[in-house]
Formats: sequence, structure tokens, C-alpha cells
Amino acid sequence: MSGTTTQGPQETRIFAPSAAFAAQAAVSGMDAYNALCAEAAADYEGFWARLAKEHLDWQTPFTRTLNEDNAPFYQWFEDGKLNVSYNCLDRNLQNGNADKTAIIFEADDGTATHVSYRQLHEKVCKFANGLKARGIKKGDRVIIYMSMSVEGVAAMQACARIGATHSVVFGGFSAKSLQERIIDAGAVAVITADEQLRGGKRLPLKAIVDEALALGGCDSVKDVIVYRRTGGDIAFKAGRDLWLHELVDGQSAACEPEWVEAEHPLFILYTSGSTGTPKGVQHASGGYLLWAALTMKWSFDIKPSDVYWCTADIGWVTGHSYIAYGPTAVGATQVVFEGIPTYPHAGRFWETVAKHKVSIFYTAPTAIRSLIKASDVDPKVHPKNFDLSSLRLLGSVGEPINPEAWMWYYTQVGGEKCPIVDTFWQTETGGHMITPLPGATPMVPGSCTLPLPGIMTAIVDESGQDVPNGQGGILVVKRPWPSMIRTIWNNPERFKTSYFPEELGGKMYLAGDGAIRNKDTGYFTITGRIDDVLNVSGHRMGTMEIESALVANPLVAEAAVVGKPDDTTGESICAFVVLKQARPTGDEAKKLALELRNWVAKEIGPIAKPKEIRFGDNLPKTRSGKIMRRLLRVLAKGESITQDVSTLENPAILEQLKETS
Ligand code: PRX
Repeated sequence: MSGTTTQGPQETRIFAPSAAFAAQAAVSGMDAYNALCAEAAADYEGFWARLAKEHLDWQTPFTRTLNEDNAPFYQWFEDGKLNVSYNCLDRNLQNGNADKTAIIFEADDGTATHVSYRQLHEKVCKFANGLKARGIKKGDRVIIYMSMSVEGVAAMQACARIGATHSVVFGGFSAKSLQERIIDAGAVAVITADEQLRGGKRLPLKAIVDEALALGGCDSVKDVIVYRRTGGDIAFKAGRDLWLHELVDGQSAACEPEWVEAEHPLFILYTSGSTGTPKGVQHASGGYLLWAALTMKWSFDIKPSDVYWCTADIGWVTGHSYIAYGPTAVGATQVVFEGIPTYPHAGRFWETVAKHKVSIFYTAPTAIRSLIKASDVDPKVHPKNFDLSSLRLLGSVGEPINPEAWMWYYTQVGGEKCPIVDTFWQTETGGHMITPLPGATPMVPGSCTLPLPGIMTAIVDESGQDVPNGQGGILVVKRPWPSMIRTIWNNPERFKTSYFPEELGGKMYLAGDGAIRNKDTGYFTITGRIDDVLNVSGHRMGTMEIESALVANPLVAEAAVVGKPDDTTGESICAFVVLKQARPTGDEAKKLALELRNWVAKEIGPIAKPKEIRFGDNLPKTRSGKIMRRLLRVLAKGESITQDVSTLENPAILEQLKETS
């Protein structure tokens, strides 16, 4: 485990929440925060039991809060039964939200559609009945490969309603990635759209599903359900493919929810780890929903009158917890956005905030950084040209936010009146872990500040011992929490070794990030991944995954992939490649680099394309044959190597790898 730092964060600016914001906040002031933390410390299970009873509706109440008998396979609220879709939809019909807008769908072309809770409930019930009519039932796995749409959210909710476990695959993944996920999940059905619309362009979805299924090994898939988005030409396989509108046609608008055990797998979401194959992170129903709902209230301070907008895609965990489930569980009105931040112009986010009077806005630092650049180039798209007075809270997610981007977000977007919640969390954690509470925690740009009440984060050294504040180390969570990953689908052993390593005693959750706490405030700053995982534009990618894709190309003998700091995307992918043929140079190198980039797009998806490819006769290796990635990281940055290279078998290679092709 390397990559941790002993440098403390230097940032000294502090921004306290305004008295007006604090006065109306769900958690008002640090005393309220500290009281919740004290409650959790005094009676951990009692704390969670209270919250689970207060924030969720149970069909069968639970009597056991936490079962640690088979740690680290923790179980929460295990003898309770509930239904996630019931909690997100039916509850809203009963508590006066039936005619409230659940979703404002902002299409790529700017058309907006309002869907009420009653309409969403009806849509989901019909969808669920349609799935049942196809024989899909509790425990079956369903792949959702959809664009951002009301139907995408409805597909997830419909699966939850019948107890089917969904696995959403981001629409930017390739046919091969989709096929691997279908096989690993053993999916019985795929829900997709004909095409997706992004930035005025039509991109195929159904055709990629066809290609994935044709790659073989997907015999478990009996149904492909297609939402007609664009009306583009697609192939239809009789007996297997079915239009969504035909599936729901004539179905009843009532669907009794399938009451499932709290531990029933709600979804599997594939994410990257240190090895070549993605991990199927499996989440439970009860504990997951509790945290999605509760963090909407605590971190986002959501109120009935808010218009909330999370710009993530449902293909990522943020789109699960903070689009499909969290906002609906608390009866919020939210914007669901189909498009991209730069179409038809880079003021689209701000224009949309003004148009729908968005009050809570949640996005990724990459988007902020790219919009800063865009408004430097074209002042017309600067946020000051749009009426952003409806905003009252801003959020950031997915990667570290650099203090300059934080300050711009705070001053130019939030007008210095909106607290920013810099939410640190992961696919595996199900919801926020470390974040300021907007009406309590004084904010420091670039720091995610303090853990939420009940979340027992700590920083330890490589043997699991606590390190003092001011000294960097490994971020861990010392106690299980309700929304945590339950296992890796099909691979419980990998779950144990990845997240509860014996070196740390087998009981601490290893986040995979380095962190440091400020000496005075105890605030956490995330210092970056300590494993071979990259974060490009907030998208998580494994270096080994990209390396495996590269070496699968017949031309490639060897490849090593490292991250390189990037002003806009946070990190970018730099690949060092040894070909089976002689090292190419000049135009030949350019041509081959392009070919390999497209190859990676085909193997994994366009998001995994290396930004840079450098060719060498070899890679820098120790005498025992280990690739020295830390040297490659230095080369990627364009810095000169100051480290000792005497253990290298072939130091001359470093000179060659300095050159970009
Ligand atoms: O490295 C951390 C970074 O994103 C990783 C989790 O990625 P993923 O599972 O795709 O989930 C992203 C959305 C929650 C973490 O291990 N990360 C996420 N949020 C932050 C962050 N790094 C710094 N600050 C954050 N707020």
C-alpha cells in the first residue's frame, strides 16, 4: 500500500454556514451534529434502529438490528421486511405528494416533461406487472442499459418492486463490457433503449446489446425490452425482443409490492478494482435505502419545496442513491437530465438551474473545472449571465475538488450564500460517508471535513494502528454501517480480501483511499487512491483493466497504465506499450496509438481510452521483472527522475519512454 502522504492540507480558509441556513437546517449547528455522533457512540445499534424505524416503512418490523456473527458479511435489520419501491412511491401517494412533481425530465433538446408521483407510481406498477408477465421474479437479475430517462428510473424501481436485482450498466460501456456483466450477473433480461441522445447526437444502445449477446455466453437472457427513445432503426429478434410500450400495454396500474427481507439484494453495480475484472458490488435493500433517504435529509437538507438536481448518470452509484432512490424516498422534486453540460452551449447547467428554479445542485468537480474553462473562453456561458437565485445548496462528488474550483463554485455559482457539501463516498459505501453538514460544519475548500454521524472513519497505518492527526495514512471504517457493500457478486472471497484484509485485522473496511486529518480541526482530506484505481472525470477505472484490454490486442506484447494529473479530468490515462513488432516512431506511432485507443474503446468503452500512448522497446523493470510503475508515473507527468534507478534492469529505457507519440 503506497501513495499515502504525510503532508498536511495547507488550506486555511474557513466558511461557516450562514445563521439563516443553519436555523432551518435538518441538522442545525455543530451541537446537533455532535449530539448525533454521541448517540451513535453510546448505543450504536440503538442509534441505527431508531433511524431505520423513523425513516423507512416496514411491512414486517425488524427485531435484530445488526448481526455480526459471520463478519465481515454483516447483516442489518435482517428479520424485517420491506419493499424499496413502496417506500419510494406508494408512501408519497399516502402522504399528500401524489400530485407533486417527482421528476422534471429535461431532455437533450431542452424539452421538459413533468411526471408526478402518481404518474411515476403508475408507470412503475405497469412496468413491474409487465416484467412479471414475462416470468421475471424475485431474485432474478436484470441488466439495465439505458440512457438518462424517466423510463430508466422506472426500470430500476420496477425491478425493486418485484424483488428482481438490477444491474445498471453505464451506456458508455462497450458490448464486451456489457457481455461480461450479463454473464457474471446471470441476467434473465436486458432493459435498454433503441438509441440515446447526447449533445444532439444519436448513439446506439440496442445495437450494442445485440452485439453483446452475439458475443456468446449470454444464454440466461430470455428477454430484451426496448424503450423507444429516438425511433431510430434497430434490429428486432422475434421471441426475444419486445418494445417497452407493448410490454406495459394493458397492464394493471396496481402492483402489489414483493415484500423482501431487508438483506435482499437490491442491486449489483460493477466497479473497478485492482485486478483486471470489474467487481459486482452487491447492495442490500433495507440498510441501503435507509442511508439514501437519510443522507438526502442530512447532507442535502432536502425540504418539500426544494427542486433538486443531481447531474450524475443512473449508470453510476451516484445515480442510484441520489437519483433513483434517495430523492424519491423523501418525496423530492428532481430534475433528471438527459444531455451533456456543453450542449447546446456550456451554460446549459446554469440555464437549466434558472429554468427549473433548482435549489439543490449536485455535480462533479470535473464538470465544474470544464465549465470554468469554457466561461473563460466564452464569457456568455459564465454563471453570472443566468438567474441562479433559486440555489441554496451545492454539492460535489466523485473526486477531490481542488480549492480553486471550490472557490469558483462557491462564489460564481452559489453567490457566497450556498453551503457546499463535498461528499466523499464510494460505490461500495452506498451513500455519503464524509461530508460537511450544510447547516452545521464550517467548510474548508478541498476538505470533505467530518464523517456523518454513525460512520466510524479513521486513518490507520499499514498494520491497522491509528495515526495521529496531521499524519497521512489509510482511510478505514471501523464499524459496519447499514448501506455498506454486502459482498462481491459471485466472489465472497474477493470481498473479504479487497475490503477486510487480514493485515488490518479483518474487521476494518478498507476504502482504498489515502487520507489525512488536519491537526487542529480533525478534518479529513482525501489524498487519492492507494491502489491501482484511477479516477478520470469522476469515473473509476482500474489500470489493470485497461492493461488487459491493451494486451488483448494482437499487436501488443506488454502494457503498463498509470494516471497522470489533469487540470480538467482530475487524472488522465497514460499507457506505456511494448509492441511485438519494432518500436514505432513518427506517423507510424501516431497511427498505431490511434488504433490502440479505439481498441480500448471497443474492449471497455470510450471512457477508458488512454489520452496518451507511449511506445518503448521495453518497460522499466526491476531485475526480478516487476514493472516500476512509480517511475512511469514520474515520466507520464513529464518530470525528471530523481529516484534511485540502480535496481532497474534496463535504465536506458527511461529515455525512450519520455517521448510522447
Ligand atoms: O477515490 C475516491 C473518489 O472516488 C472513489 C469512489 O469512486 P466510485 O466508487 O466510482 O464512486 C464515485 C461516487 C461516489 C473514492 O474511492 N471520491 C469520491 N468522492 C470523493 C472522492 N475523492 C475525494 N473527494 C470526494 N468527495
